[in-house]
Amino acid sequence: MSNQNQQLTIGFIGAGNMASAIARGLVKKGHNPEKVIMSNRSAGKLEQLADELSVQTTQNNQEVCDKADVILLSVKPQMMADAISELDFSTVQVAVSVAAGLTTDNLKQMTQNKVAMVRSMPNTPSIELCGATGLYADDAVKKQHAESVNYVFGAIGEFEWVPDENLMDTVTALAGSSPAYFFRFMETLIEAGTKQGMDEQTARNLVVQSALGAATLIKNHPDIAISERRTQVTSPNGTTAAALDSLEQSGIADMADKAVKAAVNRGKELSEGK
Ligand SMILES: NC(=O)c1ccc[n+]([C@@H]2O[C@H](COP(=O)([O-])OP(=O)(O)OC[C@H]3O[C@@H](n4cnc5c(N)ncnc54)[C@H](OP(=O)(O)O)[C@@H]3O)[C@@H](O)[C@H]2O)c1
Repeated sequence: MSNQNQQLTIGFIGAGNMASAIARGLVKKGHNPEKVIMSNRSAGKLEQLADELSVQTTQNNQEVCDKADVILLSVKPQMMADAISELDFSTVQVAVSVAAGLTTDNLKQMTQNKVAMVRSMPNTPSIELCGATGLYADDAVKKQHAESVNYVFGAIGEFEWVPDENLMDTVTALAGSSPAYFFRFMETLIEAGTKQGMDEQTARNLVVQSALGAATLIKNHPDIAISERRTQVTSPNGTTAAALDSLEQSGIADMADKAVKAAVNRGKELSEGK
């Protein structure tokens, strides 16, 4: 952890699910809670966060702007304009929006183009500090700003920068939304297991641990291709081969391709206000 980043004051406007996940991650990774300041519309969440994390809290969004070096704009997209349009960001180094669908142009308009802006798309596993976040920087974002942003998102998992804002819709499809695809696949496997006579809890335990194990194997050995791992467990004419043949015949590749396209298209529609 760089010392310079440890000195940053990190602010949050909106202290809901995503903001509290990021703040928890930062504090857990050793960031001084006195250097975290969070504002929220209602008081209850702030009291809870102050108790739990000992972070600074306020119901005054401007106070966050005045104290923070890096600001996470973490309200719902439809509430963003209300929350930030009147604020003075002149002492803030970089603002990071976590709002789905709002483009950097939208955000720069709301802030009268007065702050370097990063757009982020974290996902819900960030709550367990194993999130996947996509990031995009506007032209005003300097290397030092990007490093501060890396520090923040590194506290809740892994991150990738994309060079083109259009790719944020693909980030949404591959990371923001994808935990739900894996959840759905797990649900279907558990259900299929119960149809074979297994009780639901046993099926759940086996499926969840296998999903975790498969992801861990891939992640811990990036030099080994995913297809090689698959081939390793697929004996010719064996049980895995039978199941994979069935998945291919049911069109698994086409299903994934269509699902990703559907999410990308819906992301574009949402950013156009549809
Ligand atoms: N949750 C996810 O999985 C996820 C993933 C990626 C991105 N995001 C994005 O993260 C953002 C926040 O989502 P969330 O799930 O964390 O929502 P959330 O739990 O509803 O949090 C939003 C918070 O913003 C507060 N707020 C609203 N208007 C405000 C204002 N004017 N000033 C200060 N605070 C204000 C709300 O306060 P109250 O307590 O008064 O309601 C609420 O606590 C969204 O833009 C979403 O697109 C979420």
